[in-house]
Amino acid sequence: MGNVDDEFLFQRIYDWKTLKRIWSYFSPYKSLVLASLLILPFIAVLQLSQPYIIKLAIDENIVKKNLKGFNLLALLFLGSLVGQYLLTFLQQYILQLAGQKIIQDLRIQLFSHLQRMPYSFFDKNSVGSLVTRVTNDVESLSEMFTAGVAGFAGDFFILLGIVAIMLTMNVKLALVTFTIVPLLAIIAIIFRTKSRDANRLIRVKLSNLNSFLNENITGIETVKLFNREKKNIKEFQRINDEYRIPNIRSVYYDAILYAFVELIGAIAVALIIWFGGGQIVRQTITFGALVAFIEYVDKFFRPIRDLSTKYAIMQQAMASSERIFNLLDEKEEVYAPEPSSSPQTASVMDGEGKLKNLQGEIIFRDVYFSYNPGDYILKDVSFKINPGEKIAIVGATGGGKSTIIKLLSRFYDIDRGEVLIDGTDIRGLDKSWLRTQISVVLQDVFLFSGDIMSNIRLGKNSITDEEVIEASKLVNAHRFISNLPDGYYETVRERGQNLSTGERQLLSFARALVFKPKVLVLDEATSSVDTITETLIQDALFKLTEGRTSIIIAHRLSTIQRVDRIIVLHKGMVRETGTHKELLNLRGIYYKLYQLQYKYHLEESSIL
Ligand SMILES: Nc1ncnc2c1ncn2[C@@H]1O[C@H](COP(=O)(O)OP(=O)(O)OP(=O)(O)O)[C@@H](O)[C@H]1O
Ligand SMILES: [Mg+2]
Repeated sequence: MGNVDDEFLFQRIYDWKTLKRIWSYFSPYKSLVLASLLILPFIAVLQLSQPYIIKLAIDENIVKKNLKGFNLLALLFLGSLVGQYLLTFLQQYILQLAGQKIIQDLRIQLFSHLQRMPYSFFDKNSVGSLVTRVTNDVESLSEMFTAGVAGFAGDFFILLGIVAIMLTMNVKLALVTFTIVPLLAIIAIIFRTKSRDANRLIRVKLSNLNSFLNENITGIETVKLFNREKKNIKEFQRINDEYRIPNIRSVYYDAILYAFVELIGAIAVALIIWFGGGQIVRQTITFGALVAFIEYVDKFFRPIRDLSTKYAIMQQAMASSERIFNLLDEKEEVYAPEPSSSPQTASVMDGEGKLKNLQGEIIFRDVYFSYNPGDYILKDVSFKINPGEKIAIVGATGGGKSTIIKLLSRFYDIDRGEVLIDGTDIRGLDKSWLRTQISVVLQDVFLFSGDIMSNIRLGKNSITDEEVIEASKLVNAHRFISNLPDGYYETVRERGQNLSTGERQLLSFARALVFKPKVLVLDEATSSVDTITETLIQDALFKLTEGRTSIIIAHRLSTIQRVDRIIVLHKGMVRETGTHKELLNLRGIYYKLYQLQYKYHLEESSIL
């Protein structure tokens, strides 16, 4: 445990840093913010004039029973009120204008940052918690504009004004009122820390809640199939309980602080009446001045009383901005080639990390890789694929097949060894370029909401409609697409739920083909499709791999027999390599796998 004072100091410095960083987002809209802050003193003046007008009315008119000028004072009072509210409206509107722009900037910055985070980052962070940061955290920062910043600045002017007026009106009475301020400060500091902790916890629990919501709505199919509804509702209740507890704690501290300030305010008024009453009798203060004083004291305590609410909002905003900034501080993926990795060969263009005339030769040399340090998923993996060669990788589930793809696309970097393309270490290549050269068809096809056309083109507008249709024809997707009511403009619902697995597979082939890659990597879906679709897929696959280096992680018998070479990956190691026939003759792992996995298929297809 650190020293409490140190922690306090650290916190203050830290807050200061966060505030400075928040300010950096303000600066493009400085003029708007400034304009809105400049209105504040005028609002304060109007507000502070009101008790004084009352004092004049009492002392000059009511007490003296003299109606001369009374109407004017009444009009003045009304004018001051109307002016105050009009200016407040203007000031709030201008500030909100800036606030909303700042929030938008921040939200866009967060999203682009998230898009650029390395793949491994998403292993460690749940979708729910990330969504919370872009939505709720940004939202609570925006509340800072409505209640926080302007509120604090406005209150500052008011308090300053009141102190000055009270001191000029009656020093003794003013000092009596101020004796209470230290007590207020102590209470505020005590509750400040407590409410801050509670607010931090609230954010954590809210992000849990969002994660849970996200998972169980996305996975509703599985939830229903396994009758998890009731269990989920119970679990959600538990998570909600956890969320409620710190919320209540925060409300509790707020309520206590609020009540204390009310009480102290009442005590102050009592003190004024007690002292002031005596002064009226001794005629050192007028009756009107005493009433005005009580009004000022009320105006003095109102901002202090609201301070707890404003403070809670500011605290939440600070906690949120800390979380937002922590996320923004996470390192983005580096796309540029690593300078230290490999000497630039003659084939690499002037330091840009792009290869001229890519041939598509792939070499894995003594590759070791682990997701968690020390726990090797790939061990001493070596193989070479010649340009234009089609190879299949087979092996038991969890053997590391999909991992090989992720390494080739540099989602992760290897621990030891080398991965070479055309003899150049891939770490020496530009990542974006690398990924455009290697088209990957993933095991689970992901479709975005939009239409079929945009799902194949994936935002690359230089791809024409004709090219999309041509690619779809080649991979046998054209027929089913044409049969859809809107053809290529048919809407794809979220995650492509209105398409079958086979159709999605064919779509993903068209997607890979339209980019005309040199290297094609295909992680075959394990789910089975009917015989006709299977034939379509196989035919498409054959055309897709024509003339390009292809790695197919094969689960289908028909795929395996069509490739040039098969690599058997077992427990993260390359155990056998060769053609289908050679491997069968070896009578090793492939033979056993084949017997177990594929014999059944053979028998089945011979029946058909
Ligand atoms: N992001 C990750 N973090 C930690 N471990 C992982 C991660 N992804 C995969 N693994 C582990 O790595 C191993 C290999 O996974 P991989 O997905 O490469 O298997 P696979 O051969 O493709 O299996 P399948 O045939 O079922 O697709 C598995 O034991 C898996 O648990
Ligand atoms: Mg896999």
